[in-house]
Amino acid sequence: MSRPKVFVARQIPEDGLRPILEATDAVVWPEELPPPRDELLRAVAGCDGVLTLLTDRVDDEFLDAAGRQLKVVSNYAVGFDNVDVPACTRRGIPVGNTPGVLTDTTADLAWALMMAAARRLPEGDRYVRAGKWKTWGPMLLLGPDVHGSTIGIVGFGRIGQAVARRAAGFGMPILYHDVRRAEAAVEAAYGATFLPLEELLARSDFVSLHVNLTPETRGLMNAEKLGWMKPTAVLVNTSRGPVIDQPALADALRQGTIFAAALDVTDPEPIAPDDPLLDLDNCLVVPHIASASPATRGKMGEMAAANLLAGLRGERLPTPVNPEIYEGAPRPA
Ligand code: DGY
Repeated sequence: MSRPKVFVARQIPEDGLRPILEATDAVVWPEELPPPRDELLRAVAGCDGVLTLLTDRVDDEFLDAAGRQLKVVSNYAVGFDNVDVPACTRRGIPVGNTPGVLTDTTADLAWALMMAAARRLPEGDRYVRAGKWKTWGPMLLLGPDVHGSTIGIVGFGRIGQAVARRAAGFGMPILYHDVRRAEAAVEAAYGATFLPLEELLARSDFVSLHVNLTPETRGLMNAEKLGWMKPTAVLVNTSRGPVIDQPALADALRQGTIFAAALDVTDPEPIAPDDPLLDLDNCLVVPHIASASPATRGKMGEMAAANLLAGLRGERLPTPVNPEIYEGAPRPA
């Protein structure tokens, strides 16, 4: 019997790749950069399954190029804003993601960014390397305390709650905002107070973003909302770049409307080398590395492989983002 045909859009860790190579005829994109669109569309033609990354747009054009035999889209990420899920659902194609396994690693990075931006670590490092360090200075590179400050968590899902656990260890009052208010037991467990976004922004010393990118959250942190923040506040984003209006953020940082920002994600990615944010000392940017530990990337690989292989066997994906496809009529042959 012939083995399923699969396209894997990048080299992923061995723990994910091995089971795929064992069970399928897989073509793995060998380059560091994502496949250009035309090559991606050519590569998925005739595939039974695809393993995509957040850099690969999966939409009607992609699905048409793949063909009617496509059984599964497995996205190697917890976020899936690169996938037109309704388009997949209409065609009865399950989409998988990798929730849970990257929660703490991502929260660790959000925490690192918060600490680094508050205590001005990149600036301090640049200062030392530039030979500017002449003496201990009472006023040198002052930044706000993290411990005891108020944190506002926007998006109180798995990662937002993991950030709250860290904040509890730093004795921080915890505010949160989400489209859905958490159950009372969850609020009590974290000592977290629900607030409307406006009030959360006005009261928080640190604001950490953990929302999915949706039409509602695109541009969420615009000039008006940045204006609601304290001039001493730090904004951290490990969610998706377009959640922040970047030109508005650059203005806010330049004018001192807020103290600092630390971004793991930008719009676009990579950020343009001449983006005004990169000229600002109070803006720290890293290249979308929140889940980048070997252990976590390995687990993401295992989950993405499990989703892919389950979909190829016609079984329910372990972590589908469109489980409603299993509730309807059987998929047309
Ligand atoms: C995700 O999984 O959505 C992250 O952005 C990358 O790990």
